[in-house]
Amino acid sequence: MKKIKVMSVFGTRPEAIKMAPLVKELASRPHFESLCCLTGQHREMLDSVMDIFRLKGDYDLNIMQKQQTLSSITTRAILGMETVLQEAQPDLILVHGDTSTTFAGALAAFYHKIPVGHVEAGLRTYDKYSPFPEEMNRTLVGDIAELHFSPTAANAENLTKEAIRGEVFITGNTVIDAMKTTVRENYRFSTPILNELDFENRRVIVLTCHRRENYGKPMHDILSAVRKLVLAHPEVEVVYPVHLSPAVRQCAQEELGGIRRVHLIDPVDVEEMHNLMARCYFVMTDSGGLQEEAPAMGKPVLVLRKETERPEAVAAGTVKLAGVEHEDVLRLATELLENPEVYGQMAHAVNPYGDGEACGRIADAIEWYFRLREEKPVDFSAK
Ligand code: UD1
Ligand code: UDP
Repeated sequence: MKKIKVMSVFGTRPEAIKMAPLVKELASRPHFESLCCLTGQHREMLDSVMDIFRLKGDYDLNIMQKQQTLSSITTRAILGMETVLQEAQPDLILVHGDTSTTFAGALAAFYHKIPVGHVEAGLRTYDKYSPFPEEMNRTLVGDIAELHFSPTAANAENLTKEAIRGEVFITGNTVIDAMKTTVRENYRFSTPILNELDFENRRVIVLTCHRRENYGKPMHDILSAVRKLVLAHPEVEVVYPVHLSPAVRQCAQEELGGIRRVHLIDPVDVEEMHNLMARCYFVMTDSGGLQEEAPAMGKPVLVLRKETERPEAVAAGTVKLAGVEHEDVLRLATELLENPEVYGQMAHAVNPYGDGEACGRIADAIEWYFRLREEKPVDFSAK
């Protein structure tokens, strides 16, 4: 029997974390040959994920450049994909989410008339410049894809409203599948400072901030609010694994460098990160992935953005949109530290984004698409 060749194309840290369990699920099924094409949009941060999940790329375009522009990522990825697609001739390309790799991967597949499955489809803010360029990337990929794997019912509704072509499945988010293998009660950190932190008696806040639309003033305003918060609260320790983007590193150093209770560390591997979040007091972030992971661990999240395409945990009460204004960020973080009632209302585990079975549903849907099974998978529904 000829196997169906499914090629997963990804290149950044979050795509790798969310695609790794799917690549493995596909590889475990007899009908599929599961291939990985890495664009290498990220290098160290991507390699770290591949190591943790013990995966190897079948192709690696290695496109990353220091301070790369959107145009350079997109063109280098599309050109690199040309040779790969001619050689491998996959039956289906899978892309994930909303990065430049996602867009370039889908467009390259379209140029070769190869069908595309979009994992994490249908997230929207309906503001073209926020998040930038992600909102436009995912919207354009929606037009190209034949198969849309939406994490939640609300994401799928967005696609229905847009009268998108192709099949829409509600699968849950694959990041919840990934967390099944990373979070452990007896986990020991390999980053020295994380082993030294007293999670019981100190208030450990996990901070990340990296989005392009926050570069410059918003990031300075946010991080200076964190500085004020720490200086006003002797019980607080902030752990900030700083993204390798030079723009982010410079701002983090300027606003938070040299403060004893702010731990600016290099990006940590995904096991370290998930276990850090599982032990912290709360999370402040502009990351998409952290907004999905922290609620599942019962950790309150302040989102350092003006909008979110992930409204489900806001509705469930575990996530608050703090915005990017200095005063708002400081006020909401202070409230979480000083008002136990507010903290208690936010600190409960919810799972609106998945049940850990997303990859199985996606693989079933692909089998259905290739007529290898009769029934469509049953949609994920949050309890
Ligand atoms: C990208 C995605 C964003 C996603 C983020 C996840 C786009 C346009 N943006 O943004 O949606 O939220 O990844 O982290 O696709 N760098 C390294 N080593 C690495 C990774 C990055 O040195 O392993 C540095 C390089 O100088 C690089 C810069 O970071 O030029 C920015 O990387 P880039 O992929 O362009 O943007 P991100 O902000 O990471
Ligand atoms: N993450 C990680 N190490 C870090 C910071 C984040 O492994 O030092 C993980 C995090 O748990 C989540 C993903 O990276 O799974 C989020 O990636 P990022 O914030 O870079 O991108 P976004 O989700 O905003 O696109």
